[in-house]
Amino acid sequence: MAILKIARMGHPVLRNTAKAVETSELGKAPLQQLIDDMLETLVDSRGAGLAAPQVHEDLRLFVALLLSSDGQREIKVVTFVNPEITTVGKETGEDWEGCLSIPDVRALVPRARRIRIKGLDREGRRVEFDLRDYAARVMQHEYDHLDGVLFLDRVKRMESLTFLEELERYHRRAEAAGD
Ligand code: NI
Repeated sequence: MAILKIARMGHPVLRNTAKAVETSELGKAPLQQLIDDMLETLVDSRGAGLAAPQVHEDLRLFVALLLSSDGQREIKVVTFVNPEITTVGKETGEDWEGCLSIPDVRALVPRARRIRIKGLDREGRRVEFDLRDYAARVMQHEYDHLDGVLFLDRVKRMESLTFLEELERYHRRAEAAGD
C-alpha cells in the first residue's frame, strides 16, 4: 500500500469529467491496488472522502466515510464505483465543507438534505444507500469531483469563505453561542 499525492486546486485533473470504470477492471490487481492506496491516503489525510481525480486518476470512483446524519459517528468506509446520485425531495441545507485539494479552507455550501446513491462496490456488487444531512453531503461533495466540480463552485455566500484556523477561532464559537 502507498500514500498517494493529492492534486491541489489548479491542477487540470480536478476539472475533468472522469471516465466510467470498466467493470471488468474491478477483478484486476491495478484497480484493487488503487482502491487500497486511496483508502490508506484517506485515513492518512483524515479526510471524509477522496475521489480518484484527486489522486490523478481519471476514473469515476471514490472512497468515503459513511457517517451518521449529524456527521459525528463513522459507520464504515465505503467505495463507490460509477456512482449515481439522485436527490430525494427538494429540501436543501447549508453546512461547512472543506476539501483535501483545497487545504485549510472552509465555506458554507448548500446541498440537498436527502439523497439516494447507487453504484458498485469494489467487488462489483450493486450498492445503494439512502442518506441525509452530513452523510448525504459527503457523497455529493465526492460525486462532484467526478464531474470536475469543487465545493467552492457551489458556495452561495462567499462571505462564509474562511481559513480553518479562523473558522475554529470565530465561527464555530459564534455558532455555539447561538448567533
Ligand atoms: Ni474534495
